[in-house]
Amino acid sequence: MIKLAPSILSADFSKLGNEIKELEKNNIELIHIDVMDGMFVPNISFGTPIMKSIKTLTKIPFDVHLMIEDPSRYIEDFAKAGADIITVHYEADKHIDRTINYIKSFGIKASVALNPGTSVNLIKDIISDLDMVLIMSVNPGFGGQKYISYCSKKIEEVKDLADKFNPNLMIQVDGGITKDNIKEVVSKGANVIVAGSAVFKNNHIESNIKQLRGALV
Ligand code: DX5
Ligand code: ZN
Repeated sequence: MIKLAPSILSADFSKLGNEIKELEKNNIELIHIDVMDGMFVPNISFGTPIMKSIKTLTKIPFDVHLMIEDPSRYIEDFAKAGADIITVHYEADKHIDRTINYIKSFGIKASVALNPGTSVNLIKDIISDLDMVLIMSVNPGFGGQKYISYCSKKIEEVKDLADKFNPNLMIQVDGGITKDNIKEVVSKGANVIVAGSAVFKNNHIESNIKQLRGALV
């Protein structure tokens, strides 16, 4: 089954509660929460206070994408604020194995993200310990960017590793997904699809979700 994970980075924050309810109405599988520190990426987004307040509105699991330096400093805070999956960037952490185990110690799922320019080979040894791998298909920091085409090959590489070492792995793709390329990324092996602008654009959440799901059949 393919999971859709709307990124609330592209939501209208002045009515965030309503937008979450709209996702709930459309039976969305995961809510993707993009946390940016202005250091690892050139942008600042939001942190645990926003997460805690929307957690009261929904039962949809929270998929937290930490685009922050040295993320182990904040794992406990995000776990306590309601994260169900935490993704850390391979590039942001000197001790990735320790951090994966630390995330799991809170009873939640652990995931590692790779920037477009980071090779899939680097996670070969840890892939069997992961619940999810996130393939960035734009350079992280901003919503609304264009899909980088060579990332399709990287999805296939992760899928090959998963088939060998971790058949239940969730393979997430994040950045530049639209109704025109969603089918292609799924055909390469992605099974969790992040979409920000494609879900929230023009204030038509319901029809945008229908279009994305419709493009998969
Ligand atoms: C980029 C974020 C993405 C982004 C997705 O740094 O990790 O989750 O918001 O937005 P779209 O789908 O608009 O590329
Ligand atoms: Zn993201």
